[in-house]
Amino acid sequence: MSAPNKSYDPVEVEALKPEEIERMRSEALAAFAAAGDLEALHEAKIAHTGPTSPLSLANREIGALPPQAKAEAGKRVGMARGVVSKALAARQAELEAERDARVLVEEAVDVTVPYDRVPAGARHPLTTLSERIEDVFVAMGYEVAEGPEVEAEWFNFDALNFEPDHPARAMQDTFFVQGRGTKDDESGVVLRTHTSPVQVRSMLDREPPIYVVCPGRVYRTDELDATHTPVFNQVELLAIDEGLTMADLKGTIEHMVRSLFGEGLTTRLRPNYFPFTEPSAELDMQCYVCRGESVGNPEAPCRTCSSEGWIELGGCGMVNPRVLVAAGIDPEKYSGFAFGFGIERMLMFRHNVEDMRDMVEGDVRFTRPFGMEI
Ligand code: DAH
Repeated sequence: MSAPNKSYDPVEVEALKPEEIERMRSEALAAFAAAGDLEALHEAKIAHTGPTSPLSLANREIGALPPQAKAEAGKRVGMARGVVSKALAARQAELEAERDARVLVEEAVDVTVPYDRVPAGARHPLTTLSERIEDVFVAMGYEVAEGPEVEAEWFNFDALNFEPDHPARAMQDTFFVQGRGTKDDESGVVLRTHTSPVQVRSMLDREPPIYVVCPGRVYRTDELDATHTPVFNQVELLAIDEGLTMADLKGTIEHMVRSLFGEGLTTRLRPNYFPFTEPSAELDMQCYVCRGESVGNPEAPCRTCSSEGWIELGGCGMVNPRVLVAAGIDPEKYSGFAFGFGIERMLMFRHNVEDMRDMVEGDVRFTRPFGMEI
């Protein structure tokens, strides 16, 4: 213990006089009352209750008083500090309430104002699927090629080895924009019925080897219903090189199927006829949902392939030499394969879309669940 303080300097304890303490107290209360906002109050708080405020300094002087004077001075200072800190808390609460009330008014949101923002749309799944398919082929070195939707009949039919009386040319399938000319060398104009004319255009524009993927819109005179639409999308594939065979075709499509639907899936060819390919085939992929396990198994039916085990993809074959000749390519030197399929159909079985009309109506409630793909 330190020895009791016997000698003290009365000047130093001037600050502890009752009138001094009273002055400090009323100055502090006046400063709090004058503080117009929380920031000003914070400054007043530091000035009147902080470690260098008059009351804190006075408090420190208590130790210098003779023992008999300490208790009274301590009480005086303590009471003054108590009053000051209560006044501070009260003013703080008052200013906070004022601020909250002001913020509520200033930042009020009128939730009844009509909604006028246009929601962000989403890219159409037909576009994103088509681009995904293109990417698979671009990664293999293919080039994306496009052709006109309003097409010369010559490109759409003649160059592809359709005979003049081929049923596909008939009015019920084809939208004719302009009828066939009177002279033999004049070609009519149609809305292209498939993307195959882009094969011919690509061959005329390039020297072999040619590897192109041709996406695009095509038109047929079908009524819009759950499984038909007069405007739809196809992707066409064409490869022209030395020594290409049906095995290259099958391997290429199998790679596409695995890239889009998963590893380990296989494909099969079924003989068919197209004027522009010889031999021609229909190409099926193994069902990516049941992988064939639903076949003959009524316990576990598959909706995607109707328990067939296979899903029909599209037509394909080796490019008919007559088409090569029409497009200026030497069939003795080069061979090629082609493949064409519909994107709407693929979107239907890839995403369980049941009605084609949903794809063409442009309702964002259909496109949104596919998400935004860039
Ligand atoms: N163009 C045909 C159609 O629309 C599909 C097709 C079949 C494309 C065989 C091809 C092919 O490239 O080789 O029905």
